[in-house]
Amino acid sequence: MIPESQIESCSSLEELNELVAKCTRCDLFKDAINPVPGDGNPEAEIVFIGEGPGKKEDEIGKPFVGAAGKLLKEMLEENGYKREDVFIANVVKHRPPNNRDPLPNEVEACFPYLKRQLQLINPKLIVFLGRHSLNRFFPDLKISEVHGKAFRKEIPWLGRKQVFMALFHPAAALYRGSMKETLKADFAKLPKLIEKINNDNNDSKSKKDQPELF
Ligand code: URA
Repeated sequence: MIPESQIESCSSLEELNELVAKCTRCDLFKDAINPVPGDGNPEAEIVFIGEGPGKKEDEIGKPFVGAAGKLLKEMLEENGYKREDVFIANVVKHRPPNNRDPLPNEVEACFPYLKRQLQLINPKLIVFLGRHSLNRFFPDLKISEVHGKAFRKEIPWLGRKQVFMALFHPAAALYRGSMKETLKADFAKLPKLIEKINNDNNDSKSKKDQPELF
């Protein structure tokens, strides 16, 4: 089994992807066709974190390439981003059979990969897509209450206060009109939020303790 220390010592996303490809830290690899480590810009300002690969993602080896991915791409483009500008990952890197929810032990076994991805990419903003990714980081938060609200938290393994926002999962919103409207409205806050983070970083006042909510 690949030890956490080996994952922690990866110095590039490529190196990390090679470990994911031979990972046996949980049983999900057994039924999966391909590993889906994540893809996009290794220097992205925004990292999106979904739940786990579905059927299409498993076949292709890339995250969000099915129906939910189409909605994600559409929202990115509506807000001035290309898919290649951002990085897209998941909480688990192999497909759970029949698209079931990932089990807690699978999420834990896979977390060192996500951690290392975030350390290497060092994004300005982490966007949770759905409750699974939100709750891996913040078990007490409810997506129905915090979606669309940016907040900043000290993350020791990132060595800084990191800005986060949770959105409804695009797959959940696909066939629910009002949820889709909310998702789109929340998503449209991202460009201004990135601008604000950049301004705050350039502002010497940001050295002081910041309010938790933007
Ligand atoms: N849903 C997810 O959470 N992740 C994917 O990669 C695709 C669909």
